[in-house]
Amino acid sequence: METVIIQGKLNDSKILVNESVNNISDHLPDSQILIITDSNVNHYYADLFKDFIKIVISPGEASKTFTEISKVYAEMVHIGVDRSWFILGVGGGVVTDIAGFISATYMRGLNFGFISTSLLGQIDASIGGKNGINFNGIKNIIGTIRQPEFVICDPELLNTLPEREIKTGIAEIIKYALITDHQLFQYLNDHIKQIVQLNKTQLSHIIQRSITIKANVVNHDEHEISERKKLNFGHTFGHAIERISSNNHGESVSIGMILASKLSLKYGYIDEEDYREVFKIINQFGLPTDFLFDKKQTIDAIKQDKKRSDHQIDFILLEKIGNALIKKIPIADLDLFLEDI
Ligand code: GLY
Repeated sequence: METVIIQGKLNDSKILVNESVNNISDHLPDSQILIITDSNVNHYYADLFKDFIKIVISPGEASKTFTEISKVYAEMVHIGVDRSWFILGVGGGVVTDIAGFISATYMRGLNFGFISTSLLGQIDASIGGKNGINFNGIKNIIGTIRQPEFVICDPELLNTLPEREIKTGIAEIIKYALITDHQLFQYLNDHIKQIVQLNKTQLSHIIQRSITIKANVVNHDEHEISERKKLNFGHTFGHAIERISSNNHGESVSIGMILASKLSLKYGYIDEEDYREVFKIINQFGLPTDFLFDKKQTIDAIKQDKKRSDHQIDFILLEKIGNALIKKIPIADLDLFLEDI
């Protein structure tokens, strides 16, 4: 087990990489515990958590609404949860977003921790303290930044994940490589087969590396004033695609990364060969590469992006593989770019 520390404004967050979920009692405080989980996770791990008080939500993004989380608050009031309780979110990104948001807001804030059960959660969503919910179809537009006391990232939990869920996490790992780490990019290229087959050695390596990259970024810029924005590489188009299509997060971000790389090529930051390398790695992991969506709908969705201000957006471009930059781009220019492709 390795512990990666994120130093949050209010508290430190321990990311417990390769820690077994069976050791959960070593990390829980000596107080009343409330588990928030979803029905899928509850089905798999019912035995492990049978002695805890639990609130079980429906799986999927549709739960990240005020209507659904109001039901959780109501249940908490009914149970008698007060500020001395500790919330344990057990699940993927949707559960940890909801559990984090509720922990940050119920009675002005309770301590909380996570057991992260998806690859996307372990390397991104559950770490770094962003806890968002959706509103009017706009992703994560309402949220808090508050660090969990700990996040358990147990690779054994990934064994039950469908392949599509693994790939959505891999898309974000490719993102880390593209924006910060050429060595990781090379490693991914050299071990595609082993990673897709969930080989423990390679998977542990890329999970650990991704968590370290994210922790470094968050330690420098918890509140996304500058560097943390780079984690949004591929996400401007990605969030728009996710909103208007049935692609999941990683699939949408994959297409978003291709578009952002094409734009980086157009602005003269990367060359054709870099662009081809980006395309190739995304394609070889079996993630989608083609933009087949309505251009107007895409731009309309971008206009609602929370990173937009006035008529421009802080867009993340590649300077080279392993390096990203932030550039303010007018949304009208993104519109023209889409028209041209
Ligand atoms: N998922 C991007 C971030 O946490 O900043």
